[in-house]
Amino acid sequence: MSRPQQDKTSEERDRRVLELWERVVEVEQRLIPTGLHVFGRAAGERECVDLLRAVASFDRPECGARSLNDLVSEGLGLGSYERLLQDKSEQGWRTRARVDEVVRASVEMFVHQDATDACRLLESTANVDAAESLKVFELLAKIKHQLKTSGELDGFARALRGEYVEPGPGADIVQNPDVLPTGRNTHAVNPYAVPSRSAYERAGRVVETLLERHRAEHGRQPRSMALVLWGLDNIKTQGEGVAQALRLLGVRPVRDSLNRVTEVEPVSLQELGRARVDVVMTVSGIFRDLFGATMLLLDKAVRCVAELEEPDELNPVRANVRARVAEGDCTFDEAQLRVFSNAPGSYGTNVNFMVMDSQWESPEALGDLFVTRKCFAYGRNSQGRALEGREARGALARALSTVEAAYQNVDSFEIGITDVDHYFEYLGGVSKAVERHARARPAVYLSDALSRDARVRTLPEMVRLETRAKTLNPKWYEGMLGHGFRGVAEIESHVTNTFGWSATADAVDGWVYTEVARTYVLDEEMLERLSTLNPHSARSLVGRLLEAEGRGFWEAEAGVVERLREAFSELEDRIEGVA
Ligand code: BEZ
Ligand code: MG
Repeated sequence: MSRPQQDKTSEERDRRVLELWERVVEVEQRLIPTGLHVFGRAAGERECVDLLRAVASFDRPECGARSLNDLVSEGLGLGSYERLLQDKSEQGWRTRARVDEVVRASVEMFVHQDATDACRLLESTANVDAAESLKVFELLAKIKHQLKTSGELDGFARALRGEYVEPGPGADIVQNPDVLPTGRNTHAVNPYAVPSRSAYERAGRVVETLLERHRAEHGRQPRSMALVLWGLDNIKTQGEGVAQALRLLGVRPVRDSLNRVTEVEPVSLQELGRARVDVVMTVSGIFRDLFGATMLLLDKAVRCVAELEEPDELNPVRANVRARVAEGDCTFDEAQLRVFSNAPGSYGTNVNFMVMDSQWESPEALGDLFVTRKCFAYGRNSQGRALEGREARGALARALSTVEAAYQNVDSFEIGITDVDHYFEYLGGVSKAVERHARARPAVYLSDALSRDARVRTLPEMVRLETRAKTLNPKWYEGMLGHGFRGVAEIESHVTNTFGWSATADAVDGWVYTEVARTYVLDEEMLERLSTLNPHSARSLVGRLLEAEGRGFWEAEAGVVERLREAFSELEDRIEGVA
């Protein structure tokens, strides 16, 4: 081998090692739930450290505290932590790891000793001014105290007695520590306050990252996108998903004299610096019930953009609406419909039930079911009359037919895309519906609220990350197994939700199933543990692996299918009391 080639090979190898390291750090840094929440039980020490570390990594202007990561990074003379996040070189990663380590050590010292010691540690190891770090630890002290005093059983008993239960906001602990203490009467947000100024601010960064990602992978930004909007996410984030839709369209919210968001105005193309993006929004039943005013706002935003006199290539909303009308198969009003949900009083897509019950033969059935459940239009017509969930199957199908990318905001630090079946029923469901009507599979993206740098991942990347951080991670599954019967059900549910991503979006690599089989079935000891604790869920897990193989989602190594069949039949015997 000649020298230059050798250099190239070793350079390549270094790059690959760095990439691997980056992935390992990514998995390591995720906030992994190590067990189920037990009602009335306060957080354990380890969980407390992880949560406090996550809280401390963000600026908290409401109490004058800055992010510990920023304080440490600046104290060490490394500049802003934000800049370190952008630096993808080996040096960047090493520097960042150094900062993270100091932060971790200080939070551990705070939990095990006290704030004074933690401040001292930061002062001596990273030159952080104690006055600055004390503000952070004062906030952490309040949170730590609240985490240790669960008011859940008390609040529940009071509610049963018909007594007053103090109200508290519904949000994610990391995004809004004011949700603590738990055990209060959770309230939502005023829909007219959505999106908040900070949600609109944050959405700007996420949307630009999202479009940049699509440009890098597909050569240009998408002309049309399908967005999933959920109620709880928009409560927790004060409308981050809503703000992302507005940003994609290129409009800004306008507040009235009472500070209510009631109007929108277009951002000029010059200020926007890119083409607008057409968006089809499929919103959950919960969103529809909680955010009536917001649905009207989103509908107004689409209409406002459709009416702008702008070139087709810079305004696909206008171009798509005009094309539909020119085709002669619908009115201008009909062609502008972009906000869809269930029929009034109905919830969910049922795609999850169809997948979990194995009730589908062709993949198209899943996309069709999504459209059947979600084809009810909301907004107003040009005479100002409310549509109130009028069935508009053709309008949804036409709107989906131009979609090139599907997207959902993942706002939570606690619930990921394989923890519940709802992510695949919505984002997977809409992606299948697009595939059906646009005759091409859309690119699918999720944003990650767990990252400070407005990270956007593709769906297959997110599935891999969730699989490594949870389903195949001994820390996660041992935590679950500690809960016995329910824990096994939780493991099975992760496998089924992962399977849901194969069914709806073909987003799961074969190795995922290979490793799930190896971890939970081929390992005799593990299979025995699962079977003893919960033979029903163990049987479902094995059955799901067999179904995945049968449907062609993975190719099992020689002998594996036979072993799975055997295990399935042994479990059936055990359940039936034969064995
Ligand atoms: C929602 O917040 O809108 C939602 C929550 C769970 C499942 C589906 C939607
Ligand atoms: Mg549910």
